[in-house]
Amino acid sequence: MRIDKPLLQVKNLKKYFQTPGGMLHAVDDVSFDLLPGSTLGVVGESGCGKSTMGRAILRLQEPTSGTVLFDGTDVTACSKRELKALREQMQIIFQDPFASIDPRMTVSQTIMEPLIIQHKMDRRDKKGLERKALEIMELVGLAPRLVNSYPHELDGGRRQRIGIGRALVLRPRFIVCDEPVSALDVSIQAQILNLMQDVQKQMGLTYLFITHDLSVVKHFSDEILVMYLGQMVEKCESKRLFAQPMHPYTQALLSAIPVPDPRVRMQKIPLKGELSSPIEPPVGCRFAKRCPYATSACTQKAVLPREIEPGHFVACVRAGEL
Ligand SMILES: Nc1ncnc2c1ncn2[C@@H]1O[C@H](COP(=O)(O)OP(=O)(O)OP(=O)(O)O)[C@@H](O)[C@H]1O
Ligand code: SF4
Ligand SMILES: [Mg+2]
Repeated sequence: MRIDKPLLQVKNLKKYFQTPGGMLHAVDDVSFDLLPGSTLGVVGESGCGKSTMGRAILRLQEPTSGTVLFDGTDVTACSKRELKALREQMQIIFQDPFASIDPRMTVSQTIMEPLIIQHKMDRRDKKGLERKALEIMELVGLAPRLVNSYPHELDGGRRQRIGIGRALVLRPRFIVCDEPVSALDVSIQAQILNLMQDVQKQMGLTYLFITHDLSVVKHFSDEILVMYLGQMVEKCESKRLFAQPMHPYTQALLSAIPVPDPRVRMQKIPLKGELSSPIEPPVGCRFAKRCPYATSACTQKAVLPREIEPGHFVACVRAGEL
């Protein structure tokens, strides 16, 4: 039997922010492994810490504590120079790739920027850069005539293809995809997801795919990690999560997805009650104020994820019983 070694191992990752109201626990003790060539979908409501976790894994934001091993190398202990080398292998795709870059740069300049910075390619070698940019543009399905276009001249789908191209130009092995299709129309979303799956197969990529939309990750992810107020509350194979969600929060999230077949009736579990604050959160289950099954045992001590069945982690004292 072949046992794959994880490409990414996240152990007890924490990212806290000092705020005027106290310490905000944006990511609080998250651990998981990610196999090479696979996709882990990360879902949860706005503000639950998805983006912060993605950035802390890449050390775009310094983690407060915990370790991130990438192919055995401790990302959290790397020097700046080692980190720069690792960045070639670990990239990120944002919701709007042009939000963080110069709108005066052309498509080719945007795609080539990481290569110029990492490999110190000569900006004056316009022909060489353009040739390379055209290769990447072909990979991500962009017409060569757009090579000198500016972001404002392109629609959202094309802009995201450039964001993907920019992430691929260094030939990475792992990509954090932070809501890459959330800003796009549904028909364009499908095209971009197909493209991402195609390049994943071609290049053997590993994805951490962040979204607040469970229906997007359903078919795209091998596994799904559900976050709630900075913590992992459930993680397992995608099919299993949809067939047999065990955490009451996951159950509520799934029940909110519209079912296309009118003959199928899903019982909607409303998310009632107050959302706890991530600032100085109390011990115990952070979902307790909204959970229909909460008992006094839920708020007495930290509720950590347990492996309820092989590969299925749930942070709920009543997991398996509900
Ligand atoms: N630089 C910062 N300083 C203080 N608090 C921050 C900072 N960045 C994020 N936060 C807080 O950390 C928590 C997690 O934010 P994050 O952006 O990671 O959530 P998210 O799940 O990505 O949300 P969304 O779905 O809206 O993108 C939030 O409470 C947010 O306000
Ligand atoms: S630990 Fe208790 S409050 Fe939290 S999800 Fe489980 S049953 Fe609900
Ligand atoms: Mg986010």
